[in-house]
Amino acid sequence: MIQLKDKYQIDMIRKSSKILAEMFEEVGSEIKEGISTHEIDRLCESFMKKHHVKGPCKGYMGYPNVSCTSVNDTVIHGIPNKHQILKSGDLLSLDVCIDYEGFISDSTHSYEIGRVDEKVHRFNSIVKKALYEAIDAVSRPSARIQAVAEAVTRVVRPYGYGIIKDYSGHGVGLELHEDPNIYNYVSHFTPNPRIREGMVLAIEPMITMGSNKIYLNDDNWGVITQDGSYGCHWEHTVAITENGLEILTEL
Ligand code: CO
Repeated sequence: MIQLKDKYQIDMIRKSSKILAEMFEEVGSEIKEGISTHEIDRLCESFMKKHHVKGPCKGYMGYPNVSCTSVNDTVIHGIPNKHQILKSGDLLSLDVCIDYEGFISDSTHSYEIGRVDEKVHRFNSIVKKALYEAIDAVSRPSARIQAVAEAVTRVVRPYGYGIIKDYSGHGVGLELHEDPNIYNYVSHFTPNPRIREGMVLAIEPMITMGSNKIYLNDDNWGVITQDGSYGCHWEHTVAITENGLEILTEL
C-alpha cells in the first residue's frame, strides 16, 4: 500500500532530508585519495551524532554501518572497510539514510577520486543526469511511476550502459522502504501507479558501464558487476506537494 503523507509529515521528512543534504556537503569535502571507506562511514556517523539523528541503515536486516560505500565494480551496498583506501581513478557511491524523529530520508552521491578516466567521468555525469531527468519526468502532470524507468532508459541507452534490474527505488519517509517499488527499467509486469500529491519517493538509478549482470559479494551485501565494469548510483528523496514536485535532499 502506498502511504501518502500529509503536510506535517512532508515537513518533517523535509527536515530529515536537509540534514542529510548538509551531511553530504560536510562529509563530501573530506572524500579524497587516501581516506578509507571506513573513515567515511565514521564521518557520517559523527555528523549524525552531532545533529541528534540516527542512521537507519545500521541494523537494517543486519547491515553493519550507517552508510553504503560502493567503489568501482561494486554498484550498491558496499560495506565500509578499514582496508579499502580510496585511490586516484576510483568512483565511490556513498548511500546514506537519516532518521530524524522517525522521519526518514535517503540519498546517494557518487564521487570521482583524484583523476578518473574520461569515460568514468562521463559515466558519472550521465547517471546523475538520468536521476534529474527521471525526477523531471515524474513531476509532469498525470505521470506514472514508470516515467522513471522511461527517462533513465532514454538517457543511458545511447551509451550502452547497463540498468540494474534486481534492485529498485522505493517510497520512503515513515519507513526506509515503502511502496511503490520504482524500477529503472520498463516492465509490463510491475505495478505502475499514477503519481499523486502526498507521495514521497526515493528515486535512484543504479547503472553499470558494461553488462547489468551482477553477483553478491561474500559478505552477502555488496552487489558487484560480473564483467568488472564500474557501477554508479545517484539518489534523491522527492515529495509531491500541492505546489508540485520538490527535491527534498538538496539544499
Ligand atoms: Co534508497
